Amino acid sequence: MKKTILTGLRPTGNLHLGHLFGAGESYLKLQDEYEFFLEIADVQGLTDNFNNPEKVRKNVKEITMDLLAIGLDPKKVHFFIQSKIPEIAELTVFYSNLVTVSRLERNPTVKAEIAQKKELFGNNGESITYGFLGYPVSQAADITIFDGEVVPVGEDQLPLLEQCREIVRKFNSIYGEVFKEPTAVLSNTKRIKGLDGNEKMGKSLGNAIFLIDSEETISNKIMNAITDPNKIKKDDPANPEICMVYYYHKLVNKENVENVCRECKGGDRGCVACKKELINAMNNFLNPIKERRKFYEENEQIVTDILKDGTKIAKQRAENQMKKIKEAMMINYD
Ligand code: TRP
Repeated sequence: MKKTILTGLRPTGNLHLGHLFGAGESYLKLQDEYEFFLEIADVQGLTDNFNNPEKVRKNVKEITMDLLAIGLDPKKVHFFIQSKIPEIAELTVFYSNLVTVSRLERNPTVKAEIAQKKELFGNNGESITYGFLGYPVSQAADITIFDGEVVPVGEDQLPLLEQCREIVRKFNSIYGEVFKEPTAVLSNTKRIKGLDGNEKMGKSLGNAIFLIDSEETISNKIMNAITDPNKIKKDDPANPEICMVYYYHKLVNKENVENVCRECKGGDRGCVACKKELINAMNNFLNPIKERRKFYEENEQIVTDILKDGTKIAKQRAENQMKKIKEAMMINYD
C-alpha cells in the first residue's frame, strides 16, 4: 500500500512562478510515489475572505486548472474541495478542546500573520476572528481525517505541522491510538525571488509572474524588472548577480545562460536585448502550460468531474476515519 500524502492550497488566486518552482515541481514527483490527496481549502480561504465569497468560489476552479496545467495527473491525485467533507469541520470541533488559546497565539505562523494584519488594519486587534486564530486546528483536521502521513508544505507552514503533531499526541494519549503523527516534507526548497528583487515572489507583493499571464503582460513585467542600477549605457559591463533578468534567465533559459552571464559581465549585452531574449524564453517555457490549461478552460465539465471524483474518494476515506474517531471518543451511538 502506498503511503498517504496530503496538502492543501487556499483558492484565493492563480498560481505564479513561485508556486511552480517551489511546490509544483515537488508535487509532480510525489504524485508517482504516494496516494496523493490535494485539498482545495475553500473553508480556510474564507477565514481571510469571509466577506468576499465570490473570490473564493471563482478560484476553486481557477487553481484546479492551474494545477492540472502544470502537469498533475488526475488519475494519480485526488483533487477535492474542503467544504464538501463536513467530517473536517466536525473533527475541528473535537480538536478545539485539545488546544489552548495561548498556544495558538504563540504559533509563529499565526503570530506573523497577526502582525501583518495589524500593519494593514491598525492595532485594534478586531480583525482577528475566532476562525482565523483557530485555522491551525482546522488544518490539523484536514491532514488527519485522511490519515495523512506526509505533508509537503513551504517553510512558513512548519509551525502548523508541529501544532498538528501536538494535537495528535494529545488525542492519542487521551482517547487511544487513532492517528499517525504526520511529518512535513519541505516542498519549496527553492524560493523564487520577485520581479522587484524581493526574496519572495508573492501574489500580494505585486511582484509575480502568473502562469496565466498573457504574452503582453509578461513582456511588460520583464521590461520593468530590476537590473544592475550601475549599468547606465548599453555597453557598460554589469553584475548579473544583482539583476533579476539574469535570475530568471537561470530558471527558464538554461541553454544560453552562460552566454548571458559572460556577455553581461563583459559589456557585450544591452539590457533591452537581454530582456527581449528572456521574454522569448519565458513564453517558450509557459506556453505548453497555457496550452494544457486552455484545454481545461474549454472543457470545464472535465474539471468539474475531476473535483467530483476526487471528492468522492476523499469523502469515503474521511467517513471511515470518523467512525474510528467517534468510537475512540465514545460518541458512537448506533
Ligand atoms: N495553510 C496552507 C497555505 O496557506 C494551505 C493548507 C490548507 C494546507 N490545508 C492544508 C497545507 C493541509 C498543508 C496541509 O498554504
